[in-house]
Amino acid sequence: MKRLGVVGCGVMGSGIAEVGAKGGCDVVVVDAFPDALTPAQVRMTASLSKAEAAGKLAEPVDVIMGRITFTSDMSALADREIVIEAIRETVEDKVALIARLDAVLTPEAIIATNTSSIPVAQIAAASTTPGRVLGTHFFNPVPVMPLVEVVPCLLTDDAVTDATHAFCAEVLGKKVIRAEDRSGFVVNAILVPYLLSAIRSLQNGVASRDDIDEGMVAGCGMPMGPLKLCDMIGLDTMLLVSQSLYAEHLEAAFAPPALLKRHVEAGLLGRKSGRGFYDYSK
Ligand code: 3HC
Repeated sequence: MKRLGVVGCGVMGSGIAEVGAKGGCDVVVVDAFPDALTPAQVRMTASLSKAEAAGKLAEPVDVIMGRITFTSDMSALADREIVIEAIRETVEDKVALIARLDAVLTPEAIIATNTSSIPVAQIAAASTTPGRVLGTHFFNPVPVMPLVEVVPCLLTDDAVTDATHAFCAEVLGKKVIRAEDRSGFVVNAILVPYLLSAIRSLQNGVASRDDIDEGMVAGCGMPMGPLKLCDMIGLDTMLLVSQSLYAEHLEAAFAPPALLKRHVEAGLLGRKSGRGFYDYSK
């Protein structure tokens, strides 16, 4: 498969499109908000330039960017072999998108939903051809983090799972693990309680923000502290993920701490809004 579509050009969608183009795919990026397209283009160019400066690109940045088309027109996806959606992390939005994709794509085209925590069956069941729907869970920043979780649901055809696994490994160059269709899959079911626990520690006055983050970096060799990582993931995403995990597992470790809710209510969403647990305005 070399004709890739990406729906949603936020941080995750941009990253997926970047690795697709780097892997030689012809990529169509669709976002319903035209204003999101230029920032995505800028983000990808900056990311690729960083890789180029580190001697990690086999081709010039403009050649790779030349493989990507940016549009708000969903019908541009009509000839895609695989479409990966990376829109907002709510069942309602993703289910509504599946119906629109069903109307545009050929019946053979694969639909992969990039979700952090929503069980894939809920999304696949909304499709008129659910056998072509599965989950692909990429990690942020997508161009840097090697992993993709491939998540077939009860309705997914085996051939679709195998083709997507091969695409992620061979074309996108990712390390693939297969995960069961449950909220959080393998990685987030382990990672998110850790991140929420760091927020609870801050909320309960166990230690300062910097001491929590420095503790986990210096004490456990984490590449970045958990509160900084929450800011990078986005606190709105963290809240949705936590709510989805809690709804599925009903375990206190997944419940969203009040401090996380207050940040989201205040519009302090992390790096993307300029302030979260840290201030990025400067
Ligand atoms: N393509 C390829 N490589 C790139 C690149 C690109 N576009 N941009 C940067 N790189 C490379 C750099 O060359 C560098 O390589 P090196 O290690 O060989 O020198 C490496 O990536 C790191 O890049 P930077 O120098 O830009 O960044 P830092 O060293 O400051 O690291 C970080 C930043 C990668 C974010 C690091 O802090 C980290 O790994 N943090 C943890 C991230 C993490 O845990 N992500 C998962 C989040 S959870 C998630 O996403 C799931 C979701 O569902 C919630």
